[in-house]
Amino acid sequence: MKFDVIDTQPKEILLADYAAYPFAIDTIALTFKLSPAETIVTSKLSCRRLGQASTVLELNGGPYMSLLSLHMDGVLLEAEKDYDLSEEHLRVYNAPKSFELTVVTSINPQENTRLEGLYLSSGNFCTQCEAEGFRHITYYPDRPDVLSVFSVRIEALMEDYPVLLSNGNPAGAGEIAGGYHYAIWNDPHPKPAYLFALVAGNLACLTDKFHTSLGRDVTLNIYTLEKDQAKCDYAMGALKRSMQWDEETYGLAYDLDVYNIVAVSDFNMGAMENKGLNVFNTKYVLASPDTETDTDFAHVEGVIGHEYFHNWTGNRVTCRDWFQLSLKEGLTVYRDQEFSSDMGSRVIKRIDDVKALRAAQFPEDAGPFAHPVRPEKYIEINNFYTATVYNKGAEVIRMMATIIGQAAFRKGMDLYFERHDGSAVTCEDFVQAMEDASGFDLRQFRLWYSQAGTPEIKVDVKKGQGSKTILSVSQTVPSTPGQDMKKPMVIPIVMGFATEHGDCLSAQGLSSNIRPLGNGSFLLMMTQGADEFTFEGVEPTAVPSLLRGFSAPVEMETTLSELQQYFILNFDTDSFNRVEMSDLLLKKEVYKIAEQIEASQTKTVSNKLIKSLGQCLEAYERDPALISSILSMPSENDCISSMKRLSIDAVFEARQFLGKKIAHRLRKSLQSVYLSSRSAAKSLSLKGDKQAVHFRRLQNVCLSYMAKTGGHAENRLIVDQFQDSTTMTNKLAALQALVHSSIGKRKQLIRHFYKAYRKDELVVDKWFAAQALSTHENVHSEIALLQNHRDFSYTNPNRIRSLIGMFTMGNLSAFHRRCGKGYEILANAILKLDDINPQVAARMLTPLGRYHKLDKERQVLIGKQLKRILAKEGLSKPVYEMASKAYEGLKK
Ligand code: ARG
Ligand code: ZN
Repeated sequence: MKFDVIDTQPKEILLADYAAYPFAIDTIALTFKLSPAETIVTSKLSCRRLGQASTVLELNGGPYMSLLSLHMDGVLLEAEKDYDLSEEHLRVYNAPKSFELTVVTSINPQENTRLEGLYLSSGNFCTQCEAEGFRHITYYPDRPDVLSVFSVRIEALMEDYPVLLSNGNPAGAGEIAGGYHYAIWNDPHPKPAYLFALVAGNLACLTDKFHTSLGRDVTLNIYTLEKDQAKCDYAMGALKRSMQWDEETYGLAYDLDVYNIVAVSDFNMGAMENKGLNVFNTKYVLASPDTETDTDFAHVEGVIGHEYFHNWTGNRVTCRDWFQLSLKEGLTVYRDQEFSSDMGSRVIKRIDDVKALRAAQFPEDAGPFAHPVRPEKYIEINNFYTATVYNKGAEVIRMMATIIGQAAFRKGMDLYFERHDGSAVTCEDFVQAMEDASGFDLRQFRLWYSQAGTPEIKVDVKKGQGSKTILSVSQTVPSTPGQDMKKPMVIPIVMGFATEHGDCLSAQGLSSNIRPLGNGSFLLMMTQGADEFTFEGVEPTAVPSLLRGFSAPVEMETTLSELQQYFILNFDTDSFNRVEMSDLLLKKEVYKIAEQIEASQTKTVSNKLIKSLGQCLEAYERDPALISSILSMPSENDCISSMKRLSIDAVFEARQFLGKKIAHRLRKSLQSVYLSSRSAAKSLSLKGDKQAVHFRRLQNVCLSYMAKTGGHAENRLIVDQFQDSTTMTNKLAALQALVHSSIGKRKQLIRHFYKAYRKDELVVDKWFAAQALSTHENVHSEIALLQNHRDFSYTNPNRIRSLIGMFTMGNLSAFHRRCGKGYEILANAILKLDDINPQVAARMLTPLGRYHKLDKERQVLIGKQLKRILAKEGLSKPVYEMASKAYEGLKK
């Protein structure tokens, strides 16, 4: 289809078109004369033509920068005669074999609301260059396969910008006339431009040290605004734990004399791994128990780890092109997940990661934005920093580790670094290293990189002749945009046979596609459309526990009876699968009630389900965090992504109904477990015991159920927790309960929270987010009011995500109201944001592509808003790509 409003459709970049860059840039020397409204950048490139390649040197640029001058080997070049300048390129003609090019540009950081390239945050200079921000600073081959040695000189007013930072090691500093000073930074490791960073400002610093296994003394610095310095200790600890962990787990040590982290309030994503100078969203650095929740602490540790681990997986070995993004992101997410598992509870980490995968990646794979882990084309690369590339990418790495085993995986990593240190490579190179190190044939496995869509498997459990147990498993991979036909994938299914006294250990006579893992579990290697797995000697009462630890990112259906499902919930040795079962049983109950609603029958709730949940709850003490997960209601998003044929109205209503019923029927237990986990958490935290986190988690799951009763005693406890708690974890849980409640003082207390924390941006974000999740009838007008709040701002991505992101991705029943107002609110925000920050605007569009489970009426309403967006004059490339994909998909 053609949109008449867009006359020049942005061009698609294709993986198939990759060609190496015909020049080498051996060194780049940058000088920045910093000033908010006009910064002058001088870049000296030493260039070398490779082979018989073209004599035209093509550099990337952008519309927000002016070229002041261009010299080749000291000779001033003339426009048109010596070079050509277009909006996106600078082409220099008659390039000799080797030469020095000096490019002088001027940029305006103060007007940069896009937050890519050089910009200001709280008056301080900072940069974001991944993926293609460097081209907005100077003309340069802005692609990851051009590696160069960077040296940087920064000049700025000493009083306003006492701290001057860039990549690598410090190599000099001093004063210059007129109140200015300078600093020089040299990075000995060749790197692509996306890893360049510069920070200049008035920043306070927390310093520490780390001694590496190779004997290097590294200075660690965390820079923040003065007011935030007290909240950096946890991040510093996490950094040291990351450094230690990477040495112990992979033998990888840090390679510079300093490791700098700078936290800024205005940031498009989470954080950035620039060599030796990470720039972070404050959200992933600052952590103090009175203002950040336990979940925030976990995220800080995970992201600090993530960016640190990139130093090897991303920086030392980088990507050949952006189609290979998962080479570094999938692998680094896998590494940060493993790090967090080792630092805390492995099973809880896995439960939370799988929940996140299902919440973000499964819907992506099922809708118009579906793409393979290694995409084949894009218009705007920033739209591909997705749950598929990151989280499914991590699952792909995890599956390889499962298939070849941990020891071979480690060998594969060693081989990968041995072969590719210092170069820009592909996903294929990674798999090849794993294949060579393990001797496993991973040819068919590679489909995980090229085929999009979440595979669906069906497991049929049968008794064969004699003592045979047969599992027949079939798979289908749904078609996705541009990929109608799919091939069968390799699916590693970890499973065991659960009995009342642990795993059944008597299984033998395994078919050749089964590998015993030695711990009571087996690895079933699925490779065809349909596979059979046979066992002998399995105890007759044993129940198969399938896909333990979520060994593959698939949707699974089984023929297990309800009795067997309850058996897994109660007895499986794999705690992960116990949680999976409660989730499944809860969802099934939601669908049953939804059917009753659609058939205008009386709604009923299974006694057995309530009883089982009650029993789990009573036995909370042994593993409070696990019980909290078993008890948690599946999210609205979860409920609609696996529903079939039902309407979302019925499903949302059924989910509400079930939640309330559980709250009423388990009322006594919930209250008593609430009280005892509350006091357990309190006394443990006084002792500094990390287990306090698990009790708080359970405490607050109980609280959220208690809130559903609307009972007097419960409301009292909510208000008490709100007023008395000293940790943000408890305070926020109470605020959330309050927002949904009809407690008389509701409004007053919400206002009180704001007044108490208005100076703390990150807490104000939580205040916006909590209200965006309101289940109240008038939520749309509440959102409108919040959009007009003096603290709401379209220039701060955290604030946008807190209000607009939460409302549209976390509060589905409110977002999808029949009136279509939710869609309109979102489209209005996107249109406004498109002029301010297109990257974030495009991200915000995601919910407008999640319509595959919606009725026609709602799809039409969404279509209307997409059309409005597409009709905007001068619509940005990132938003165009997302909106047109969503709109195309809607017509199918
Ligand atoms: N490489 C960064 C990370 O791992 C993400 C930065 C992406 N930023 C962007 N604008 N695309 O976490
Ligand atoms: Zn990353």
